[in-house]
Amino acid sequence: MVKIGVIGAGGNGAGHARYYHESPRSEVVAIADPDGKRASALAAECSAEALSDYRDLLGAVDAVVISSPNQFHRDHAVECAGAGRHIYCEKPMGLSAAQAAEIASAVRQAGVRSVIGFSVRFSAAIQTMQRFVREGRVGDLISIWSRRLFFMDLSEHPGWRADHALSGGLLFEVNIHELDWLMAMGGELESVYARAYARGQAGPPANDHIWVTLNFAGGVVGTHEGSQVSAVSQYHRGLMGTRGAMETTGWGSRLHFAEPGSAALEVEQDEAFDLRGHFLDCIESGASSVADVEWGLKVMTAADAILESAATGQVATV
Ligand SMILES: NC(=O)c1ccc[n+]([C@@H]2O[C@H](COP(=O)([O-])OP(=O)(O)OC[C@H]3O[C@@H](n4cnc5c(N)ncnc54)[C@H](O)[C@@H]3O)[C@@H](O)[C@H]2O)c1
Repeated sequence: MVKIGVIGAGGNGAGHARYYHESPRSEVVAIADPDGKRASALAAECSAEALSDYRDLLGAVDAVVISSPNQFHRDHAVECAGAGRHIYCEKPMGLSAAQAAEIASAVRQAGVRSVIGFSVRFSAAIQTMQRFVREGRVGDLISIWSRRLFFMDLSEHPGWRADHALSGGLLFEVNIHELDWLMAMGGELESVYARAYARGQAGPPANDHIWVTLNFAGGVVGTHEGSQVSAVSQYHRGLMGTRGAMETTGWGSRLHFAEPGSAALEVEQDEAFDLRGHFLDCIESGASSVADVEWGLKVMTAADAILESAATGQVATV
């Protein structure tokens, strides 16, 4: 039975807590959140202890799930790993590649297991797209793309999410997911070219809308456009190879495959990969993490390069 502590009792932390409470392989021992009401309500649901300071749970757990606001991820991850606790750290892995490097170093030194919460890559659609690529059904990959546009109403999201210095803006808070899966599919990333727009805050690094081109060593090109200031919503992912192409529709829920010259057919999707269960596998049986801090550091290094390119107007090497 893996003893888990959950740090941050917001909507996302609650999802993690319920999962590990319901799993027969783990037990949620404590929930830490300075918001006492939230901590107590979630702790009561999971028969756990409510604490205001995450440091007070370290003595009682094997592993932590860090689901606090983004600006705390570095400190929480470094401290928990340093105390010898396995870490499931929500994305982003800190607010810069330098912070991610501190987390990776703490994990390496402590020899603990790590998972970064790149949940989107493990969704059914992306898992299925990856399998089609692996099985050679799209031939040699040429292009991968994503477009994720929505409108974030600032009046409904006060606090850390609306403040780019605390959240990292759209790129770190939301589109780090897209960067993760595009990188997982495209191979070694060589350089990026990006532009960014920010509403009401000077940017970059402030960013509410980004355009990114990813140049992979093998010749694959990735493109992404993301927005949290768009009046129209769209969530579209796709890829194209020498023998076929795939795309999602319906806010990413449906997936289609077409071979050149034939109509696109809807594909039955694989099961989503259980990243939370995988964290337990890493701890219990030494499974190799599919999204560890070393990978997270690569993604954060690419994210920094995107901001650098957006600031300079030049291609940035990764
Ligand atoms: N992987 C995903 O798909 C996914 C989805 C949603 C959110 N997230 C991430 O999860 C994290 C939390 O998101 P959320 O939507 O639950 O946010 P939220 O604002 O709803 O909740 C954050 C909670 O953290 C608490 N908190 C603040 N300071 C703290 C501290 N020092 N120690 C412990 N808790 C503290 C707040 O009181 C709040 O209850 C963010 O990093 C976000 O990026 C990931």
